[in-house]
Order: sequence, then C-alpha cells, then structure tokens
Amino acid sequence: MTHAAKKPASILVWDVPTRVFHWLLVISFVIAWLSYDDNRYLDTHTFSGYTFLGLLIFRLIWGLFGTHYSRFQQFSYSGSEVINYIKGLFGKHMRHYVGHNPAGAWAIFALIGLGLVLTLSGLFVLGGEELHGPLAGIISFDQSTIFREIHEYSAYGLLLLVIIHFCGVMAESLLHRENLIGAMFRGTKSADTESINVHPHRLVAATMVTVIAAYVITTFGGYLTETADQPYLPFKGPELVKNETWETECSDCHLAFHPSLLPSRSWALMMEQQHEHFDDDLDLDEETITELLAYASTNSADLEQIEPAWRMNSSIAANEAPLRITDVRYWKKKHEEIGDDVWKRDSVKNKANCGACHLDAEQGTFEDADMRIPGEQKLDSIEWLKSILSQPS
Ligand code: HEC
Ligand code: HEC
Repeated sequence: MTHAAKKPASILVWDVPTRVFHWLLVISFVIAWLSYDDNRYLDTHTFSGYTFLGLLIFRLIWGLFGTHYSRFQQFSYSGSEVINYIKGLFGKHMRHYVGHNPAGAWAIFALIGLGLVLTLSGLFVLGGEELHGPLAGIISFDQSTIFREIHEYSAYGLLLLVIIHFCGVMAESLLHRENLIGAMFRGTKSADTESINVHPHRLVAATMVTVIAAYVITTFGGYLTETADQPYLPFKGPELVKNETWETECSDCHLAFHPSLLPSRSWALMMEQQHEHFDDDLDLDEETITELLAYASTNSADLEQIEPAWRMNSSIAANEAPLRITDVRYWKKKHEEIGDDVWKRDSVKNKANCGACHLDAEQGTFEDADMRIPGEQKLDSIEWLKSILSQPS
C-alpha cells in the first residue's frame, strides 16, 4: 500500500444504486442460466433477460451521471496502465485504488459490452424464433439461428468473464487485505482521508427496486390469480386459421391436431389411408376430404408460420411423410426428458394427448411457457426455484 503511514479512513465509495445494480445483475444472470434450457421457463428466462438489459442501460446512464467512483471517466485506464498494475502486483509498487483498479475497470467494460451483446442477441432470438418481443417478425426463423449462436456463445463468454472478475476480486482482496465483496454490500472502503466520500442516492435505488418489483408482479402475478378453468398463459401465440370441418371430423377421438404440426404430404397420405387410420376407419366422403386437404395444405408445417411448424418441418426428411406427430425427431427430442411415470399418469395416458400439458394445444400454437406437467403445476417457475433451492447438493 502506498500510504501506509497515513491512517486509513472508511469512506462511501459505491453508492446504493451501484450496489443494487451489481447484485441484481448477479441474480438475473443466475436466473437466466437456470431457466434457459427448459421451454417451460421461457417466461422466467425472458424476464431475467429484460431485467439484465434494463440494469445495463441504467449502468450506462449512471456511468455518465452517477457518483464519482461509478463514472466511467473515473476508471478509464489505458492498456499500459493495466499492464503496469498487473506487474505491480508482483513487485514492491503495488498500488491501492480506491475505486476500480485498471484491470478491474477493463473487466467491467468487457462485462457491460458482452452483456449488451448477450441481451440484444436474445431479443433477436425471441423475435425471430418465438415471434415475441419488440423484434417480433423482423427476421426469419432461419436468420434467427445466427443470433441464437451469438446468444449462446456470448453467454459462455460472459460466464468466463464473471469468473475472471471474481478471481480478480479475490486476488485483490487478499493482496490488500480488504474484503471487496463486503465492500460491494456496504459500499465503504478504506481510503486516504482526502478521497471523495460519495452521496448514497438512496432514492434512485428505491426507484430501481420499485420498478423491478412491479415488473415481477406483472410477469408472474398471473400464476397467483389463475384458476383451474382459466390457467394463466404467459405467452399468447398468433391466432392460427381454423376450419370447422376439420374441428368436427378430427376431434371425436383425440385433439384436432393443428395442421401446422405435419407437412402437407403427411396429411395427403393420411387422407389416402383414411380407412385404416390407426385401426379406425374415418369413413370420410370425397367432398369432405377435398375440404380437409385444402385446409391442411394451406396451414401445414411446410409453410413454417410458427416456431413448432418450422422446427417440425426442419426435422423431417424430404422423402418422409410421417403420420404421427409423436414420431417426428423434433417432437421426440423435446419430450425425451419427460419420465415414464408422467406418461402413465391418468391425466396424460397418451403421448398424443397434447392438451394434458400444453394449455394452448387447441389453439395449435404450442407456445413456450404455456406448458405444465400435470400434477406438478401452479406457480411452476416459483415451485421450480424452490425445488432447486431445497435440493441437497
Ligand atoms: C374414429 C376415431 C378417430 C378420428 C375421427 C380421427 N382419428 Fe386420428 N387417431 C385415432 C387413433 C385411434 C389414433 C392413434 C392414437 C394413438 O395411438 O395414440 C390417431 C392418431 C392420429 C394422429 C397421430 C398422433 C400421434 O401419435 O402423433 C394424427 C396426426 C391424427 N390421428 C390425425 C387425425 C385427423 C387429421 C383426423 C381428422 C381428419 C383424425 N385423426 C380423426 C383415431 C381417430
Ligand atoms: C406430458 C406432458 C406433455 C405432453 C402430453 C406433450 N407435451 Fe409437448 N412439451 C412438454 C414439455 C414439458 C415441453 C418442453 C420441453 C423442454 O423444452 O424441455 C414440450 C415441448 C413441446 C414443443 C416445443 C415448443 C417450442 O416452442 O419449442 C412442441 C412443439 C410440443 N411440445 C408439441 C407437443 C404436441 C404436438 C403434443 C401432442 C402430440 C405434445 N407436445 C404433448 C410436455 C408435453
């Protein structure tokens, strides 16, 4: 330390909004990791992504107009300053910085930059694949695959940066015998008496917390007020074209599967074989078949109007005409993690009983987050978080 002779004083370095920003960013990053894999939690995932983006935007503003040590200008160091700082760690000239040290400052700029890449690419995936969010429908399904890759790689990149940042914090805490993690909670650090003691800005922090609390309630409040007859559907898909004849002819024995789940050649084959429809005879007349086929072919999976259609269609080879939705590779992949015990439940019984889990099966949209496993439902995001927290490690 440079001023060992002077008595260190404790000053406020990190104002309250900077600390609230920091810890909420950590929390939303963790929630986004935990919820990315399972479509059921896409509402939780997009919630944490929007929160993350909102926090980054706040930080950009606070970096310009915030308090002394939170301003970007205060910790804009050149590359040589970073190198000198790192060299200094191993020598006698170890310098103590009250705010961010040069290496830490660079990590923070990288974290913010990569965080923006991560969330903005996420918005493109949400708009391109799911047809949700501000970029809905702006790019095609195929174009969105590149954004999905950017989204995934930047997430891993950010995780790596977080680890580096954490190691840096631990290293500096040890070298300077100062608990920097504690400092990010309390906001205070030991400093020379002439260092600046910043304003806490509690009102700004209270506003941030209020906005996020309101966002939590508008996103998840529906789970608290839903009833068995009116389950809460976090995502609402586009209204798909319906056909009355299809609905009446195909709903007697099972759900009238929406034609967007199979390509038109499958529907044509199914009508050709209508007298041996899975051991049943559909016994349809020519006129009805013509109408059903006209409807099916103008709304089939090959037209890729919605995500399930696009994904089903891309996973069926051009020379195949599957008759079962549940035989399609994409369908199998999406349902392989569901245990045998679930399929055997009275409320499910059959793989083709889509409506048992997909609350929007009749609409045909099969939106992410609108699915539940029967018997494991209600407040699923919250229950699921609880189950994770209670899991013995
Ligand atoms: C008389 C009863 C009956 C009617 C009416 C009927 N189906 Fe079926 N359908 C079945 C049976 C039985 C199965 C096989 C279910 C099983 O094995 O789980 C089946 C299965 C299917 C499947 C495959 C489901 C899977 O496992 O992926 C599709 C697709 C299908 N039917 C479409 C239609 C269409 C389209 C119509 C209307 C034109 C229709 N069905 C009308 C009895 C019927
Ligand atoms: C036992 C409950 C259950 C049944 C029955 C079921 N699904 Fe699913 N489905 C799920 C779950 C859970 C997921 C999410 C899987 C994941 O992402 O890990 C899912 C995912 C999907 C997806 C992907 C959604 C997306 O946007 O990527 C589609 C499409 C789908 N199901 C269609 C169907 C169809 C069609 C049927 C009926 C033939 C069906 N499912 C029957 C539980 C079920």
